[in-house]
Amino acid sequence: MTGVSKRFGAVQALKDIDFEVAAGEVVALVGDNGAGKSTLVKTIAGVYAPDGGNVVFDGSPVSITSPSEAQALGIATVFQDLALCDNLDVVGNLFLGNERKHGGALDEVTMEQESWRLLRELSAKIPSVRIPVASLSGGQRQTVAIARSLLGDPKVVMLDEPTAALGVAQTAEVLNLVERLRDKGLGVILISHNMSDVMAVADRVAVLRLGRNNGVFRVADTSSTEIIAAITGATTNAVTARAARRAPQEEQS
Ligand SMILES: Nc1ncnc2c1ncn2[C@@H]1O[C@H](COP(=O)(O)OP(=O)(O)O)[C@@H](O)[C@H]1O
Ligand SMILES: [Mg+2]
Repeated sequence: MTGVSKRFGAVQALKDIDFEVAAGEVVALVGDNGAGKSTLVKTIAGVYAPDGGNVVFDGSPVSITSPSEAQALGIATVFQDLALCDNLDVVGNLFLGNERKHGGALDEVTMEQESWRLLRELSAKIPSVRIPVASLSGGQRQTVAIARSLLGDPKVVMLDEPTAALGVAQTAEVLNLVERLRDKGLGVILISHNMSDVMAVADRVAVLRLGRNNGVFRVADTSSTEIIAAITGATTNAVTARAARRAPQEEQS
């Protein structure tokens, strides 16, 4: 997308944003609270119509005016709240609103087979697809939400803070999953506050600050200190100075 802007009344949430993700690439989208990350994601997902700018998908100009249009193009979003139904099992959640039928009745067998196929493809560690998702761990729930987003065979997947509520082992599992999506050739947009997640899994990092682009970095050529400086908009404030002092230790670990 180029030159994309979005205003809410007096608030200029996005101003002249350029943003790009390629097939087989993970781009992290970072920025402070209020930087415009969610607004950008919702614009790509068709929740908000931009006030201006151009969007090109797969080489053609598009205007994404509704979530169903985004989905039809092949843009899937896993929102932060996941929107899972706790009382339904994994199969029920994966196919919610998209149930497979066989002569009028639910085709449970096909749905269950499809569920296993999908989870195996993601090397997901889910003990059973017939247990309510309420009994799954945070990482497993995230996995189910990501698997569901893949049912429509998307080309781009956006993940909003997928590791925010997870412990160390579960975070590693979800980051593996992100790499698997990249290996499948998907473009992945990863919103995260966690700099070590970003550095571990992203190919590029796009920084938003106060609704504007504030740098795009290749992870291979940058440091978390440099990214944090771009996020805060200063290289000499307390946060970056502290990060700079800690950076040598981080590099060892
Ligand atoms: N629906 C909305 N109505 C009015 N203002 C909004 C709305 N959504 C976001 N904003 C404002 O736009 C700015 C960017 O918000 P947001 O995209 O949520 O930032 P982030 O996700 O980076 O924290 C903030 O100032 C926020 O208050
Ligand atoms: Mg947000």
